[in-house]
Amino acid sequence: MMRDRLWYGVFLCGLAPFLWLVLLAVTDGLGANPIERITHFTGDWQLNLLLTALALSPLRRLTRKNIFIRFRRMLGLFAFFYVCLHFSTWLVLDQFFDWNDIVRDIVKRPFITVGFIAFLLLIPMAVTSTRKMVQRLGPNWRKLHSCVYVIGTLGIIHYLWLVKADKLVPIIYGSIFILLLVLRLQVPQWAKNLPALQPQRTGAQP
Ligand code: HEM
Repeated sequence: MMRDRLWYGVFLCGLAPFLWLVLLAVTDGLGANPIERITHFTGDWQLNLLLTALALSPLRRLTRKNIFIRFRRMLGLFAFFYVCLHFSTWLVLDQFFDWNDIVRDIVKRPFITVGFIAFLLLIPMAVTSTRKMVQRLGPNWRKLHSCVYVIGTLGIIHYLWLVKADKLVPIIYGSIFILLLVLRLQVPQWAKNLPALQPQRTGAQP
């Protein structure tokens, strides 16, 4: 794939939250509860990037510009990167590899259960995101990658369950997610009346 300035710019945007987190860590800027801060920060960014990646297909269809789709895989993989950090923070810094506690947490705390299922579902998606896998899986690739809507739903439920008092932020995330789901289902209908779509190079577009 041709990597131009725009590609590096988007890449830097995906990496910037991580660099910011590292900067906070090395400058003692994570506050009184660094583990909680890292967990929340990585959880937020995983959701931000997942929703941004989901917005790219409807944007492409509405604007008729393929440029948006170029970054879907990259942003999806960044979302996976942040959920790996999120999960590792919980596993290593929060649970200290105490396997009994880990299993108990996954089984007994519903918000952890759904987050964990979402994380497991993301693994096959990340593994099959290469161009080779797109070609090898054919139409099954699209079916597998539609799972992203199940993952998004679980991620929002996870957020809604873990927040005890003010649920406004997870409700805003949930509303954006529902809007993207509606766009996903409706845009192909509206797009029939728009000018023809530019031909796509990658061949993969759920
Ligand atoms: C797709 C998967 C996931 C998404 C989208 C996600 C997202 C989030 C978000 C948005 C937050 C709250 C951030 C905030 O309050 O600012 C959060 C918190 C948290 N998540 Fe996740 N998460 C996911 C998976 C997981 C997994 C796999 C685990 C562990 C097994 C986990 C454990 C936690 C914990 C312990 C908290 C903090 C809870 C608290 O402060 O009481 N998450 N997550």
